[in-house]
Amino acid sequence: MKVTVVGAGAVGATCADNIARKELCEELVMLDIKEGITEGKAMDFMQSATLLGSDTKIIGSTNDYSKTAGSNVVVITSGIPRKPGMTREELIGINAGIVKDVTTKILDQSPDAIIIMISNPMDTMTYLALKSSGLPKNRIIGMGGALDSARFKYFLSTALKCSAQDLQAVVIGGHGDTTMIPLTRLATYNGTPVSNLLDEETLNKVAADIMVGGATLTKLLGTSAWYAPGAAGAFLVESIVRDEKRLIPCCVMLDGEYGQKDICIGVPVVVGKNGWEKIIDFKLNDEEQAKFNKSADAVRNMNAALQI
Ligand code: 2OP
Repeated sequence: MKVTVVGAGAVGATCADNIARKELCEELVMLDIKEGITEGKAMDFMQSATLLGSDTKIIGSTNDYSKTAGSNVVVITSGIPRKPGMTREELIGINAGIVKDVTTKILDQSPDAIIIMISNPMDTMTYLALKSSGLPKNRIIGMGGALDSARFKYFLSTALKCSAQDLQAVVIGGHGDTTMIPLTRLATYNGTPVSNLLDEETLNKVAADIMVGGATLTKLLGTSAWYAPGAAGAFLVESIVRDEKRLIPCCVMLDGEYGQKDICIGVPVVVGKNGWEKIIDFKLNDEEQAKFNKSADAVRNMNAALQI
């Protein structure tokens, strides 16, 4: 197995770190445009591997795509991150050009790769990569729902004072502060609906905290978060390279599922060796479906800014 991570900023480097620690591939390439940064990070990682016991070979590349040739999975994190007060949507102008260029160069070298999109605005970047490459839809997966659902579990575990491992909680819709939809009705604590255990006010606060989860961290950190976004990227890589068929909320192209067409947006999907393999219908109620439709409208508006 060969995996490439494009973009060696905090998210890309954290994703690579998780992939290497878990030994998800024999060879891991980190590529960035900044001279020497990936070579340096690769060497640093390889030195840490002697302490951690990982045998993954890590290769750094300053913009030399030939080193990424034959990758099975490619994670794209390129582009600028949010600054405090910015929305993910404001990044579209700069990041669209970068993501299109990176996707083309990656596929020239690795025509069979499965692509995981992390760059923001993630729903629109996933759509752009799919439309501009003409790849089969199952091979492009946006990471947002995996991250937002991890944040959902974190806030729920804090409210319930329980282990997040015992929680099932899913966020669907767009990966935006106002477009994501925490499916509180379906969240469970080992099978027990969390609504049996928490009052409405607490549940509403949990939902509100998730929706501004990224913005809260951007304000604290002065830039976008990286530990959870990087871990979410590696989580998807794991399900693909080990063909785990995990059910993960991800941004994928819809063709009538959840009442939407020609849009990449978050829904629960099975992720395995073929990319996303199946969409699972969670049978939304009318209120959830209305929120989903509204979220899709917002994502569609953002997609309209693309020149493809
Ligand atoms: C976040 O929500 C980076 O969009 C990412 O933190």
